[in-house]
Amino acid sequence: MGRKERRPLAVPELIVRKREGEKLGEQEIRDLIAGFMDGSVADYQMSALAMAVYFQGMDFDETVAMTLAMRDSGKVVSLEQIDAPKVDKHSTGGVGDKVSICLAPIVAACGVAVPMMSGRGLGHTGGTLDKLEAIPGFRVDLSIRDFRAQLRKIGCARIGQTGDLAPADKRLYALRDVTGTVESIPLITSSILSKKLAEGIDALVLDVKVGRGAFMKTEADARELARCLVRVGTLAGKRVSALLTDMNTPIGYTIGNALETTEAIEILHGRGPDDLRELTYALAAEMLRAAGVAKTKSQAIRRIELAVMDGTALRRMRDIVKAQGGDPRVVDTPSALTVARHRKTVTASTDGYVTGIDPLELGYVSMGLGAGRSRAEDAVDPGAGIRLHVQLGDEVRAGDELATLYTSERARLPLGADRVSTAFRIGKRRPPARRRVIETIRR
Ligand code: URA
Repeated sequence: MGRKERRPLAVPELIVRKREGEKLGEQEIRDLIAGFMDGSVADYQMSALAMAVYFQGMDFDETVAMTLAMRDSGKVVSLEQIDAPKVDKHSTGGVGDKVSICLAPIVAACGVAVPMMSGRGLGHTGGTLDKLEAIPGFRVDLSIRDFRAQLRKIGCARIGQTGDLAPADKRLYALRDVTGTVESIPLITSSILSKKLAEGIDALVLDVKVGRGAFMKTEADARELARCLVRVGTLAGKRVSALLTDMNTPIGYTIGNALETTEAIEILHGRGPDDLRELTYALAAEMLRAAGVAKTKSQAIRRIELAVMDGTALRRMRDIVKAQGGDPRVVDTPSALTVARHRKTVTASTDGYVTGIDPLELGYVSMGLGAGRSRAEDAVDPGAGIRLHVQLGDEVRAGDELATLYTSERARLPLGADRVSTAFRIGKRRPPARRRVIETIRR
């Protein structure tokens, strides 16, 4: 709705009402977002409102209204001409989280269309786009037209979140980021869902991470966010479910773009780390259920295993890489991806068992080595990062290798190596085995 057609909005009154814990109406929220976009609601007013929401919250009706208003602030992609069920996955972000790279071709190989829009890395978590771009030539800047055509042809297309999708979220997030209002469950929910609902999907599976390397540090908070996402997404008319997953240690053995892409492609060859396979298969199975192509988790897992074993998933990956300008040879020889030339290996100083690997610390070290960015405009070094040689519960002797750091700037190694050493805890007792998937949350 254009500004001229709207009633004048009493923004100060709305802020006061929310500050006092009142519920805002659907039309009020729509007008607020429209005013924010056309400039009649100032940034300082929107920031004040975000702070009021931070303290008072929003109920499900308000959160749905906010989600849909932000979705409608830009283009909503129509994928109606594509017959297959369209399902995407979103992760709240973790360290070493390369699941999307191998998940998308696996799910597409099982007959589900995967229109995957991903982000870039910022801070201690990496981004799928940066990981895909570690493949020489891989382009993520497809037009919506090409995206749709590729989705129809191959069953999967991968792009970055374009500026036309949910622009109100982009602007609001920029304000939240500098006003201490990011950690609000209704604001996070509407932020994530507005972008995903603009993609034209039928269903969405969320990977809500919990633990030291995640946005949500406690299971109770992560569960509350997951429930809110599922409820609001369902009220907005989509099939939405969530997996609560552990993020207290890095996923797999690698952190950094080329290293992670290599490891993810290994999964498509039927190799790679067990925890990465567990997470990928669990999320893929949930996507197959949401799409209606499998009735039960075990049926879905059988289908996924077959797609990996008979090479269909790998072929799908090759098709995606080729279609998006990448060098398909890396799909057959994933180790061909170049890693940075300066290296340093950190070793254990004592005998024992690995009882902890701090993902947050390793995420920051990897960023410092060049694999991530602290500002959105920074460039990344695709070959930088960390390779772990051990995982939680492994037995080590003094002098055994724990991790190798990779960077293109040698001067970054000494400080990084010291921090990596402190990120490992070695104890006398083997810790209990941990599963990645904690719980599945459905409607
Ligand atoms: N990720 C998002 O996309 N939005 C938030 O508000 C937080 C995490």
